[in-house]
Amino acid sequence: MSSNHHQSVMFNESIDALDLIEHGIYIDATFGRGGHSQGILDRLGDQAQLIAFDQDLSAIEYAKDKFNDPRLTLIHSPFSQMHTAIEALGLSGKINGILMDLGVSSPQLDNADRGFSFQTEGPLDMRMNQTTGLSAAQWLAQANEEEIANVIYQFGDEKKSRHIASRIKKFQLEQSLETTLQLANLVSEVVRGQKKKHPATRTFQAIRIFINQELKQLTETLEHSKDVLSNNGRLSIISFHSIEDRIVKRFIQKNSRQKPLPKGLPVANQALEKMPFKDLGKQFASKDEVKHNKRSRSAILRVAVKN
Ligand SMILES: C[S@@+](CC[C@H](N)C(=O)[O-])C[C@H]1O[C@@H](n2cnc3c(N)ncnc32)[C@H](O)[C@@H]1O
Repeated sequence: MSSNHHQSVMFNESIDALDLIEHGIYIDATFGRGGHSQGILDRLGDQAQLIAFDQDLSAIEYAKDKFNDPRLTLIHSPFSQMHTAIEALGLSGKINGILMDLGVSSPQLDNADRGFSFQTEGPLDMRMNQTTGLSAAQWLAQANEEEIANVIYQFGDEKKSRHIASRIKKFQLEQSLETTLQLANLVSEVVRGQKKKHPATRTFQAIRIFINQELKQLTETLEHSKDVLSNNGRLSIISFHSIEDRIVKRFIQKNSRQKPLPKGLPVANQALEKMPFKDLGKQFASKDEVKHNKRSRSAILRVAVKN
């Protein structure tokens, strides 16, 4: 498989959830290799627009090379800046749907030079946007033991977080920690693997989430979506682990559930508060998809429509 291949997860379900309008304006917040974007473009009319974001320059360069569609606008930016870009385009409140397919793409994982994989040797980078910020190696060199342990615990649910952080700091007394396999081996010394899970899975996930500020990005973008979307505009969000899904779930619940009405007021006087969103529920990948694409096993799609 070429290093540019990414098999889109819950392809039909996530696009169907947008309930596309033929000449609507849509956002793909996570272009990747453009699988979902192509699916959306294929179903839209010639007056429609798709604005695609990715903070990874290689995704945008790939898009410029392979996608030649006048309806597509590409933006190299974290999606948390979506509201600013959309405002600059004069499209605030006019977007008919936002698709987010969170996490990393297969080309990012498969390219050893990006440092996301604990299975292949490469520089410990892990930045989706390599034009800014600290690499994982730089952060691990400057953070203290407690900070490292907290990240691994909070974003990886790793019970051995303190042992791992202590092992990392001990290693760094002798030599600098620069590569993916150095880190994977250190973690394997203190964590036992479970079934098919590599011992370093949770540690790599945690450091990646921290380095890319993934949860902060997601939380901010969900808030901004209220201004970006038009009435009846939809959110279609695929997440891949429970920490991420919890943020999406809570956002939708908080913005769609009616607060209990004050007791004692006559029903006639009780104006129902209009909530920003209506919750359209969640879906999982089909058994068939899970059989063919392992990555879809943990996918959760949540959908909401703006009121
Ligand atoms: C799972 S892939 C998307 C795959 C895509 N849906 C497809 O079908 O090819 C996630 C992509 O989103 C990008 N990404 C993740 N977080 C981002 C953020 N906060 N801002 C912008 N892009 C982000 C990653 O760089 C990656 O290319």
